[in-house]
Formats: sequence, C-alpha cells, structure tokens
Amino acid sequence: MCGIVGVVGVADAAAVLIEGLRRLEYRGYDSAGIAVLDAEGRIERRRAEGRIARLEALLAERPVPGMTGIGHTRWATHGAPTEANAHPHATGRVAAVHNGIIENYRDLRAELQAAGRVFASQTDTEVIPQLITALIEQGLAPVEACKAALKRFEGAFALGLVFAGEQELLIGARRGSPLAVGHGEGCMYLGSDAMALVPFTREITYLDEGDMVVLTRAGMTIYDAGGAEVVRPRRRTELSSGAVGKGGHRHYMLKEIYEQPAVIGDSLRTYLDPGRGTIEMKEMPFDPKALTRMMIVACGTSAYAGMVAKYWVEQLARLPVDVDIASEFRYRDTPLIPGEVAVFISQSGETADTLAAMRHAKAAGLITIAVVNVPESSMAREADLVLRTKAGPEIGVASTKAFTCQLVTLACLAIGLGRARGTIDAARDQKLTQAIAEVPSRVADVLNNDDRMRSIAESLVHVTGVLYVGRGTAFPIALEGALKFKEISYIHAEAYAAGELKHGPIALIDDGLPVVALAPSGPLFEKTASNIEEIVARRGRVILITDEAGAGRLADLVAEVVVLPTVDPVVAPLLYALPVQLLAYHTAVLKGTDVDQPRNLAKSVTVE
Ligand code: AGP
Repeated sequence: MCGIVGVVGVADAAAVLIEGLRRLEYRGYDSAGIAVLDAEGRIERRRAEGRIARLEALLAERPVPGMTGIGHTRWATHGAPTEANAHPHATGRVAAVHNGIIENYRDLRAELQAAGRVFASQTDTEVIPQLITALIEQGLAPVEACKAALKRFEGAFALGLVFAGEQELLIGARRGSPLAVGHGEGCMYLGSDAMALVPFTREITYLDEGDMVVLTRAGMTIYDAGGAEVVRPRRRTELSSGAVGKGGHRHYMLKEIYEQPAVIGDSLRTYLDPGRGTIEMKEMPFDPKALTRMMIVACGTSAYAGMVAKYWVEQLARLPVDVDIASEFRYRDTPLIPGEVAVFISQSGETADTLAAMRHAKAAGLITIAVVNVPESSMAREADLVLRTKAGPEIGVASTKAFTCQLVTLACLAIGLGRARGTIDAARDQKLTQAIAEVPSRVADVLNNDDRMRSIAESLVHVTGVLYVGRGTAFPIALEGALKFKEISYIHAEAYAAGELKHGPIALIDDGLPVVALAPSGPLFEKTASNIEEIVARRGRVILITDEAGAGRLADLVAEVVVLPTVDPVVAPLLYALPVQLLAYHTAVLKGTDVDQPRNLAKSVTVE
C-alpha cells in the first residue's frame, strides 16, 4: 500500500515525481521521499516524515535538479514512519523504492552486514540497494545485478531503482504488487498504477508477475521471471488525467457519499436494459443451472458486500454461498472443485489477499468472477469474468460509493442467476427489477438525513464505544457501519447479528453504550423489534434506523429514529448503508481526525 513513481529522461525529474506521488498519496502517507541523479550522476535524496506537502517544502528549500529519479509515499510495514525509514533507501551506488515486504530480509541483512555493509534503517527495503550494490561491486552491470538480486528476494514487492552515474537508466520489477510503465515523448515513467502516470501519458504497459523492466529515454525492455525478453501490450488508459477534486465538499469522503445516487445509477445501467426493463447479465462462462455452490471472497468493506450478496444469491438463485475473508480463504485449505464459481470483490482490484485468493482459486480450476472498480487492475486483467462497478475513482480511504456500487452489481448478479436457474418467476423478476431501478432516487432521498446524522454524531463524539445490530442483510450493513465508524473516528465500534445479543454482548448494554439498530420493514422486523426491546429494558440507548412503518411500530419505545424510504426488503441494504456512512463521517469530522486519510490505513492494501 505504498506508492512508487519513477522517470527517466525529463528536464525536471523532481517535479514529475512529486506530481505522481500526489496522485498516489491516498495509498499510504506515513512518509515520502525522492532520489534524483544530479548532473554529475550522484544520487541526491530528499525524504520527509508525514505527507507529501512536507517533502515539497523540503525541496523548495533544497531543490534537486536532474532528469532521472524515483519517488515513494509510504505506509509503514517494517520500521516506524520516520525520515530514516522513509524511502528511497540508498547506498552511494543504488537507490530503491519498494512496495510490499521482503520476507527474508533478516537473513539477507545478516549476510550483508557480515560482508561489511552498514545499514542505516530498520526497514526490510534497505536490503535491496545494499544487495544490488554488493553485486555491482563484484563486477555485475546494473541490469545483471538486479536480475541476480531478484532471485534472492522472497515475498511480494514492486521496485523502482536508479544507479549512480547512470542518468539514462531506470529499472522496475513486479512480484505481487502492481507496477505500470508510462510511455512518454523521449522519456519513460514507472508507477504503482496508472493513476500516477496519467498526468504525463495515457499510454500504459502493465507489468506481469515476475517481470523486470529496463527503461531508458528510448523505451523499455521487459524480462519475464525466467529472464527471457518479452513484450507486454501497450494500451491507452481510460483513467482521466484530471486530478480528482472534492467537488466543493470538505472531504473526498463526503463527496463520494453524495455521488452515490449517480454512480449507483451508472453501475446499474451496465446491467439494466432500459428498453426491456430487465437485468441482463453478461454472457457467463459457466452454466448457472449446473452450479451447486458459489464462493465469495474479499476483504473489509468489500467482504461485507459479499455477505449481503450471500443472502441475495441464496434467496433468489437458491444457490448455497460460502463467504470467506480473503486472508483466511487460501490458508484454510477448503476443498475446491474445478468448475465451481468464485466471486472476488475488490474496489482497487489490487488487494494482495484478495488477488492471491483469486489466483489460488484459478489454479484450482475454479471460474473466477471479479467485481472491481478499477478497470485496469490486476484482478480485472486476470479474472475469467469482470463485473465492473462504475463508482469512478474513490479517493477517500474509507470506502463508500464503491461499496454501494458493489451491492447493486451483486444484486444484478443474483437476479441474473435466479432467472437463469428458473428460481424466480417473471412477476418476482419484474418486481425486483423495478425496485432496483428505483434505488438511485431512493438513495438520493436518504441523503436528506445528512443533518439528522450530524446531530446524532454530536452525541457520539465522546462515547467509548458504539454497538451496531441488524438481522438478515441488515447484519452485514451493521458490520460495515461499525467498520466505517471505527476506521475514521478511532472510536471502538462493533456489530452483531441482533439475535446474538442475548448470547453475551447484551452484558455490555447500559446507558453509556449507544446501539445503532438497523431495522427495515420485512420478515425479520418483528424479531429485531424484540431485540430492541431487550436493549431498552436494560436502559440501553437505541438509535433506530428504519422506515415509516418501523418508526410507527416502535414510536413508544425509541426516541432517536431515522426514517428512510420504504423499499422492497431485497434492496434495503443499498439504502441503509448511507446513514451509517454519514454517522461515521460526521463523528470523525467532529473528532477532528483525518477523514480522507485516517491514521495507520491506506486505500489499497497491497501487502498480505
Ligand atoms: C474500507 O472502508 C476499508 N478501507 C477497507 O476495509 C477496504 O474495504 C479493504 O481494504 C478492501 O479493499 P478493496 O475493496 O480495494 O479490495
């Protein structure tokens, strides 16, 4: 979850590196740094703790002219986020930036220290320039030294490398973390993803696993994991080169919450045939009728979207679904049957655990479906079928619009599977399609509760914890609400299936622990109402999110009620996600945390 940029052959490498890093800062922001080759070919570094703005201030004081360099914005994995641990790491001969983890760094460090090399940081990364320098000093040329060093590294990484005295040389390597090449006019670029490169070029080549690329002004040479020269396709990225602004909102997160009616509609239109008024899924590379099980695998918020989809696919398509957290999936050694279908959900399409899980499933002969928001991501390029969400770039680290776009896409998949398997009749199909087609406007209605959620947030700023409860598809939304709340306000929050309260968590209930209860009308409403009564009976404070009927039914029991539009229970999760997003947002703003880039987090978790 760090950001890497590199450039060879431009007039002001430092300016290019800073602009590229700005586009990647959301990936990680503990520290930032650049290394540029000066006119004499010496490696000049500038590094700063914290945000890129601090690095820019440093460069204003101490500029570093040069035409070739590398840059990095860091999410700390090994070593505190200090300047000494900031990338690039360098010897006098080699500078390196790195995304990922060199898992055998301790052995390599000990070997190099025993050979007399002196380390300056606590990071795993520093073994990279140190080992390559040792190999160059043994007589290898930079390209050969890099090839030899890559064979020694274990773990996942993306690397950028420059070499003293080699103003015309930039080397990159990819193993487990994405890396892209940008084709310029008489210059070449390197970046963790195309977002970093679109300010300079839209002509992109994505490296494959195990690739090493040698870049000069004139172009590139790519070597595959076996050392053979290969050609990778060059494509024109569809990412917009304009910097994503906040649209007048105070934070990206609020902008993205408000974009949801539009982008849910954009995502829905991918599958909703306006002429026929039906959900039409792409040609599926399997026979839906032959399926006996579906697996859904993801991390974090995306995993909660998968949990909602479990209810939908099982209820509408009558297909058993197993949902797994990606970091557990490939290590629990579950039996995988060739021909089965597994769905991998990821906003970034680069989450290391989810990408590795997808590769694991593919290697076992499963058919892989990727629900992704970044069209040129690794998962988008490697899955058998891609179901695009059209949320647009999501900059806020806390996922909002990508989540609801995942939900609407998964709802369409469930309906498509139900129709293909003959488990929903025409009337139900039509009713569901109508309900889903109305979601964008219903979601817009929900946003009218913004002020209401802010006023509730004012009473939560100083609490020590919040409980979220729900049943059915409201349970994953409760989990998502708790995650949103804790990851941006830093206040503890957790969620339970409402029916679980009496199995222990109800011991927490007193007048100091607010409980957010999600209770749309539907077959589970009365059960949830009973759980709410259990809470109120113990002086618990309930913040009820429901609809008109629910508010009326519990009017004499609960004082704090947020009323949402009444919708078909199937599409309720798409609406109930928004008040919990707004509650988290406003609480965080009132607490004064960094809403768009919360501490310790990064937008794309590209390390295991
Ligand atoms: C969401 O608010 C979190 N920042 C995080 O849980 C995120 O959903 C998770 O890391 C998965 O990311 P992905 O969708 O890009 O795979």
